[in-house]
Amino acid sequence: MDKIVVDGGRPLRGTVRASGAKNAALPLLIATLVAPGEHRLANVPALADTSTTLSLLGRLGCPSLVDGDQVRLDTSRIAFHEAPYDVVRKMRASVLVLGPMLARAGEAKVSLPGGCAIGTRPIDQHLKGLEALGCRFTLEGGYVHGKAGDLRGADFRFDMPTVTGTENVLTAAVLAQGTSVLRNCAREPEVVDLCHFLVALGARIDGIGTETLTIEGVSRLSPPTRPYRIVSDRIETGTFLVAAAITGGDVEVTDADPALLGSVIDALRSAGCTITTTPTSVRCARSGPLRPFSLVTAPFPGFPTDMQAQLMALACLAEGDSTLVETIFENRFMHAAELRRMGGRITEKGNLATVHGTGRLSGAAVMASDLRASAALVLAALAADGLSEVLRVYHLDRGYEDMVGKLRRLGARIARVSDGERDAARFQAAMDAPLLEASG
Ligand code: EPU
Repeated sequence: MDKIVVDGGRPLRGTVRASGAKNAALPLLIATLVAPGEHRLANVPALADTSTTLSLLGRLGCPSLVDGDQVRLDTSRIAFHEAPYDVVRKMRASVLVLGPMLARAGEAKVSLPGGCAIGTRPIDQHLKGLEALGCRFTLEGGYVHGKAGDLRGADFRFDMPTVTGTENVLTAAVLAQGTSVLRNCAREPEVVDLCHFLVALGARIDGIGTETLTIEGVSRLSPPTRPYRIVSDRIETGTFLVAAAITGGDVEVTDADPALLGSVIDALRSAGCTITTTPTSVRCARSGPLRPFSLVTAPFPGFPTDMQAQLMALACLAEGDSTLVETIFENRFMHAAELRRMGGRITEKGNLATVHGTGRLSGAAVMASDLRASAALVLAALAADGLSEVLRVYHLDRGYEDMVGKLRRLGARIARVSDGERDAARFQAAMDAPLLEASG
């Protein structure tokens, strides 16, 4: 296994391109199952989760070919119906095969995802929504086994806006007979991207981007003639903006959509950063001190839970008390304990974290518990005095394309080394080694 070493304290400067969004790429790749034929997707990020998704689709009988950020995928035939435990335990998004497989093939078997580092994360809403369309489920040996005859449109209300829940039920409803009305849907840009993709396949969906989706079922969908381009990653973009903010630098992220980042931009401005935008880029600069700020995570367009950890790292560098309230997941402050090891003064009470910012962090060896926690620790390390080691890099590989390369090109002293490496001189040598010209 690898770890990341960082020699902190340098302002990051320059331009970096945002990759395609992980949380759009995974549902879109899986949604190709509803339309038999050859699909082409563009701006697909090179991530461990993308590879896991393609290997899952391969195991269902749908081969794929990756060429840079383009993926060709042949869903002409579905040969198997099962998403096995060894895939689902690596990637919860595997549960998204339920909707499209039940709609197209009438059967799907998915290992029931357990809880994870950020919460219990049940899938009851996915199953209830699919049941409303006529699917039946049994639980056998840790697997949810779904069967369906002809699906019928239904009027269904989610108990809470759920991103993958909305995506799963929507992707089945597009092939159901008659009209479905899905209420209290998630409105995240990644759900919107899936809607646009399904429309490109021939689906009829009204209310895209609102909490009520009305779907007129069609009997058949087919791959679009042109490659479909995945929306850019607003969470990766936000993470690079925080990298500029936390190091007192100046970074422009291109291929980004500032309209999807309103609440993150507001938080950075209240922390004292200067944000400038064009329709396709966003730039964050900071020269003065960081001010404390408050945020509450909420479904889109509220502040994204996937940026909460990164902002907690930033709050450690502010001078004064910041408050962060997490309303989406019940256990998403695991990074706080690691930030404390770097000198962060953070108190927690239920879903409220108060960060008593002292304006500095010091380098340490820290361990990431999940993807966004890993990103937060890398950000903290970029600003900390001295050397840090961030262990369990596989979390970052799941969701950030070439993060080390991108940060190095912005001037960070950062490298990836083997976990067993302990020698500080070798860390420095790795950080000084020329960067292999990047994959993307
Ligand atoms: N929930 C239920 N029952 C359900 C579904 C959800 O109780 O059937 C609850 C969850 O436990 C949570 C809340 O509803 O408390 C919202 O969860 P949601 O279903 O929206 O989360 P998700 O679909 O499992 C996606 C992203 C997450 C992101 C959340 C929230 C993907 C593949 N994952 O998860 O991304 O944090 O939405 O925006 O889209 C990440 O990228 O690091 C990540 C964790």
